[in-house]
Amino acid sequence: MGGHALLPPTSPLLGAVLLLFCLQELWCKLDDVIVHGFPLLHQMDFVPTEEKNAMMPDISPNSSPQPFVPLLAPSPMTPFFNNSTPKLSGRCTLNFSAVDSLISTTAVDCLASFAPYLANVVCCPQFQATLVILIGQSSKNTGMLALDSTHANDCLSDFQQILESRGASNNLQKICSIHPLNLTEGSCPVNDINNFESAVDSSRLLAACGKVDAVNECCSQICQNAILEAAKKIALRDGGLTSMDIPNNLPEHYSRIDGCRSIVLRWLSSRLDPSSAKHVLRRISNCNVNEGS
Ligand SMILES: *[C@@H]1O[C@H](CO)[C@@H](O)[C@H](O)[C@H]1NC(C)=O
Ligand SMILES: *[C@@H]1O[C@H](CO)[C@@H](O)[C@H](O)[C@H]1NC(C)=O
Ligand SMILES: *[C@@H]1O[C@H](CO)[C@@H](O)[C@H](O)[C@H]1NC(C)=O
Repeated sequence: MGGHALLPPTSPLLGAVLLLFCLQELWCKLDDVIVHGFPLLHQMDFVPTEEKNAMMPDISPNSSPQPFVPLLAPSPMTPFFNNSTPKLSGRCTLNFSAVDSLISTTAVDCLASFAPYLANVVCCPQFQATLVILIGQSSKNTGMLALDSTHANDCLSDFQQILESRGASNNLQKICSIHPLNLTEGSCPVNDINNFESAVDSSRLLAACGKVDAVNECCSQICQNAILEAAKKIALRDGGLTSMDIPNNLPEHYSRIDGCRSIVLRWLSSRLDPSSAKHVLRRISNCNVNEGS
């Protein structure tokens, strides 16, 4: 493998990116590794040597001064840190306790010392999924699938505080490119359950996505197509003709559909229990579909 020559040991970030690409290629075989979080990363020890080399070009414990995967080995039960009390804004209306165990998993997946290196592979997908499920679960009380911008600020900050109090990195917003606006509806014209359900064939969406088969979904994209279809449908919801007039190739068109896609994911997360929702979200996010095509 040319991996060693190409990757100086000082580029763990590049390594993480390459690792991501390789993981995605091997995704169908390695589903559990990703879906269940990083303590299972050492399951990779069981893949045949050539595959392992292909996946982990720069993770040689001897050549790398920066500990990378080898340090991930401690048992999931190991107490890495002592919990502290988070300082909350008191203004966020999301129900954090509804996703408490997901938050704990996320804190471990985004542990301070590893988060920057495992960002794309483990931490950020989990962080994003938890955020989607948090809003989705809370929508069962509020009816809202998005936060307004004030609440988005407070809630993202509270979420970060809670994670940090459980040992996660204090820099996750930057590491995972999450902005408070990502908690709003963006430019999607639909932001509540009632409007959503009157625009979308929700039972069909739920049937396509209620249970995502790890192996087949990446290839068949049944759920992903259903999500995209629903996102396109609600994207056309408000201004009728004006939104129809946006040519399909304009950035505005994509950003609107992107915002609507988040709304669809939150709705789905409100219809599933948090743990099933997590499996669905992690599986589809790792299929890495090119939605533009
Ligand atoms: C964490 O808790 C353990 C036992 O509960 C204690 O021995 C240790 O000193 C604590 N560490 C810190 C940094 O508070
Ligand atoms: C928050 O979620 C918990 C656990 O699901 C639930 O028991 C509680 O009633 C919820 N709180 C609110 C205000 O809805
Ligand atoms: C958050 O929103 C920004 C700007 O819209 C976007 O570039 C970024 O990809 C979003 N982050 C995620 C994780 O979706």
